[in-house]
Amino acid sequence: MLGDLLANNRRWAEKMEKQTPGFFKQLAAQQKPDYLWIGCSDSRVPANEIVGLMPGELFVHRNIANLVLPTDLNCISVLHYAVEVLQVKHIIVCGHYGCGGVRAALGHQDLGLIDNWLRHLKDIGYTYRDILTMDDEDARVNRLCELNVKQQVANICRTKVVQRAWQQGRELAVHGWIYSIEDGVINDLVVDADDFASIPDIYCVE
Ligand code: CO
Repeated sequence: MLGDLLANNRRWAEKMEKQTPGFFKQLAAQQKPDYLWIGCSDSRVPANEIVGLMPGELFVHRNIANLVLPTDLNCISVLHYAVEVLQVKHIIVCGHYGCGGVRAALGHQDLGLIDNWLRHLKDIGYTYRDILTMDDEDARVNRLCELNVKQQVANICRTKVVQRAWQQGRELAVHGWIYSIEDGVINDLVVDADDFASIPDIYCVE
């Protein structure tokens, strides 16, 4: 089985090189993506593929339920590198409906270690408890999936990395999208932020 993957890889590399001679040599010299993608680890949401971008065009960070936490050294390092070194112009948080992490967070099972990660989703669920009142579980899950994206866009804007870029007058926008596994379509949640007006005062860095 693993051998198949390596064989697939050889075929893919040959095809790419055939289509665009020098493709890999050019990529090896530098990467200059315009976009940072923050998405869920879910195998059904492959970042590059669903937005039709080639290697070199999308800088990617994925974790369970696409969370951006200030204490997550991994995610914040990706954000830092993308903004300050690669100078991406757009940061896209893309959640997806039916997210298993979100569903688990609305449940009450003891899942062990991951409960500490899902706690952040529970906090969002608690904040919005008054609108997560639908009888249908899927409807509640999907609404929290959307609210989570919105919260992660806010979390990104509240980082020093993003605010520093704005202070320098750089073009940098944060967007919130949601993908439907059922039809492959992404919807824009229209929660874009590209300046300090989107940040409550207490989070603003001088
Ligand atoms: Co997910």
